Amino acid sequence: METKTVGVIGAGQMGHGIAHAMLRAGHHVILLDTSQAFVDAGAKRIIKGLARDVEKERLTEEERQQAVARLKTTTVFAELAEADFVVEAVTEKFDVKAGVFRSLEPHCRPETVFASNTSSISITRLAAATGRPGKFVGLHFFNPVPVMKLVEVVPGLQTAPETTEQAIALATSAGKTPVRVNDFPGFVSNRVLMPMINEAIFCLMEGVADAAGIDNVMKLGMNHPMGPLELADLIGLDVCLDIMLVLYESLRDSKYRPCPLLEKMVAAGRLGCKTQRGFYTYPRE
Ligand code: 3HC
Repeated sequence: METKTVGVIGAGQMGHGIAHAMLRAGHHVILLDTSQAFVDAGAKRIIKGLARDVEKERLTEEERQQAVARLKTTTVFAELAEADFVVEAVTEKFDVKAGVFRSLEPHCRPETVFASNTSSISITRLAAATGRPGKFVGLHFFNPVPVMKLVEVVPGLQTAPETTEQAIALATSAGKTPVRVNDFPGFVSNRVLMPMINEAIFCLMEGVADAAGIDNVMKLGMNHPMGPLELADLIGLDVCLDIMLVLYESLRDSKYRPCPLLEKMVAAGRLGCKTQRGFYTYPRE
C-alpha cells in the first residue's frame, strides 16, 4: 500500500524532524502532541527548516509553499483517522508509548501501519500492546533527522512482510537509506553507540581527561564528526540514560550499567542542548 498521509505523534526533537522529512518528500503530515503550545513549537521548527531547504536549493519556493500547506497540526487523536502510516516519537518509556497506541487505535483504519521511532524498546512487545501486531514496525530515525541518512527498519516477531516493505518504501521516499535490523534491545545503532557514550562519561567521571579532551580524542583520532559527550548533549542525556537502562535491564549484563555521572546529570536536569546545559553550556562559545 502506498503511503500518502503520515501521522506523526510527538512534535519534539525527533517528531518535528520526521514530519519535516516527510513533508519534503511530498507526503501529507498530521502532527499531534499533547498541547497546542507543543505542536505550534514543532510546526515553527518545521517551517524554519523548510525555508532553510529553499536557501540551500533542496526545495523551490513553490515546493516549500506546497509542503507547508500539506502540514496539519492537532492535539486530538481522532484527526489521525485519515493517516495511512503513523510514526510515534514520544518519550522513551514503554507505558507512555503503549498508552499512545491505545488512544490511537480506535480512530485508525485496520490497514493503517503503526510505527515506533523507539531507540531501544522491544518492537514485539509494543506491537503486542496494540490490536494490530502484523501492522506494527520499528522505524528508527537519527538526529538531526533532516540530515541523517539512516533509518533502522525493525520488524517485530509478528510484523507482516508487507508492513516491513511499506516502512522501507516510506523511508526510501524520504531520501533515507533503510537498513533492516532484527528486534533486539537497542537494535544495532544504540547497542553500539550508547556503550561508547557511557564509557566516555566514565572517562570523564574518573578524570581520564576533561570533556573537550575526550571529545577531541574521538574526533581527531577516530574521525567522528562529533565527540561522544557533544553527541550525548545533542541526543539528550535523559534519552541516553533511558536507552542504557533498557540495555541493562533487558540484556541483564553489567557491561550496560549506566555511568553514575550520567544518572547524576539527569537528576540535576542537565539534559544537554535542550536545557542549555549538559557536558557543555549552550550556546557553545
Ligand atoms: N538540528 C538540525 N540540523 C542541524 C543540527 C541540529 N542540531 N546540527 C546541524 N544541522 C544541519 C545544519 O543546519 C546543516 O544543514 P544545512 O545543509 O541546511 O546547512 C547540516 O546539518 C550540516 O551542518 P554543519 O555544516 O553546520 O555541521 P557538520 O557538517 O559538522 O554536521 C552534524 C553537523 C550533521 C550534526 C554532524 O556533526 C554529525 O553528523 N554529527 C553526528 C550526529 C549523530 O551521530 N547522530 C546520531 C545520533 S544517535 C540517534 O539519533 C539515535 C537515537 O536513538 C539516540
